[in-house]
Parts: sequence; structure tokens; C-alpha cells
Amino acid sequence: MKTLIKKTYEDLSKEAAKIIKEAIQEKPNLVLGLATGSTPIGTYKELIRMHREENLDFSQVISFNLDEYLGLSADHHQSYNYFMYKNLFDYININHKNIHIPDGMTENVEEFLKEYEKKIREAGGIDLQLLGIGSDGHIGFNEPGTPLNSRTQIVKLTESTIKDNSRFFEKEEDVPRFAITMGVQTIFEAKKTLLLASSGNKAEAIVKFIEGPITSQITASILQKHPDTIVILDEVAASRLKRRY
Ligand code: GLP
Repeated sequence: MKTLIKKTYEDLSKEAAKIIKEAIQEKPNLVLGLATGSTPIGTYKELIRMHREENLDFSQVISFNLDEYLGLSADHHQSYNYFMYKNLFDYININHKNIHIPDGMTENVEEFLKEYEKKIREAGGIDLQLLGIGSDGHIGFNEPGTPLNSRTQIVKLTESTIKDNSRFFEKEEDVPRFAITMGVQTIFEAKKTLLLASSGNKAEAIVKFIEGPITSQITASILQKHPDTIVILDEVAASRLKRRY
């Protein structure tokens, strides 16, 4: 695991976008795993800029999103589907047929979960998975206690995640209690992972994830074993690390 510490959120976002750009240039039909939350927004802005100013071409890129709230339709303003279009897809030349985001309104959940895994497999697996981290150390929506060998599944959100994510909703009661997420093992199988974290409320999760034991209590910790993971932090998120790389 390689850890890069950047001075600011802007520097972190530029570095992440540069890594994604190079991966697309190397493999134009890159299978790109995408994340939501506030952390990747700067990276998406930079990718949009690269598309406009540097002709970064997404036309063959295939995307798979990590997760979605159960019960929110794609046009709900707090859904991750809506987020992805408003923060990235509406501004780049990705082929909409190549976009995959879990369907929060799926009627046959079990079938949907299997299908999602199958589509990832059929695409040849995820080449590069972008990740954020929850303040409780989760990746995707894999909350503490989620088995490390889990695949795409339904999870119950913890109180701390509901609280953290309530800032996007009118009130806390509006935050869905369940979500669909790629499993920990599904994420681990990506050929390369790129985890971003900025700001102070991530510092505790970061030190546990990087320097603590590998445990289902901090699902991000599985990445310690991953053969090709880059973690990009800003100074504040890295502030509790004992070892600086
Ligand atoms: C949600 C998402 C995660 C994301 C996390 C952190 O729980 N399911 O994928 O990493 O939020 O979000 P933020 O970047 O807004 O702190």
C-alpha cells in the first residue's frame, strides 16, 4: 500500500485525477469503479477539466459504482445515481450504456445483486476502483462487522453513517436505513484501488485502517493486503498517523 500525503484537498484531487487519466490513456476501455460522497467531487471536477481541455476520452470507459441507497430512485436528488450524473457523467463523453450503478428501486434484490457481480465479471473485472472512507472505516457501504469475504449485498447502515450522511438530506429521518453495496471482497478484487480521504473527521479511521489490524470492524483495512493500493490523504486526514511515508 502506497500512501501519499498532499497539502490540500485540491492537490489530493489533482493527484487522484492524474492517476485515473493515466489509467484511461493506457487502457481506453478501462473498467473504472466509482465512488460518491463529498471526497471525490474535486477529482471529478478535475476529470471534467481534463476532458474539456486535454481531450481525455471516456467514450470506451466502463463504469461501476460502489453503492446506492435502497429505496431511492435514480432521479431522487440524494440518490447516488443522481449524484454521479450531476457531478461527472453529464459533463464527460462516457457512453451511457457503459454506466452501471446499483438500482435502489430494484424489485428482485437477490437477482439484482447476482447480476451486478456478473456484469463486473463479464467486463473483465474492475481495473481501477476509486474509494472514499466512512468515519467508521467503511468502504462502499460495508459497515463495521461486514465479513471481509462479502460480495455485492444489502447492508444496514450504522447510526454513525446515518448521522454523517444526514447532511445531504433535509432531516436525519430521511436518510435510508439500508443500501446496496459492492462487497468487501468485490472491492478487494479490483486490480488497483485508489482511496481518498480529506479532513479531520477521517483522521481516526485513517490511522486504524493503515496502522491497525486487518479486521471486519474497519472494512478498509483489507486493503493492507491489496497488491496495488494507493491512498491519498491531505495533511489533516493524515495527522494521526505514527508512520509518515
Ligand atoms: C458514504 C459512501 C462511501 C463514502 C463515504 C464517505 O457512506 N457510501 O462510499 O466513502 O460516504 O463520504 P464523504 O466523502 O462524503 O466523507
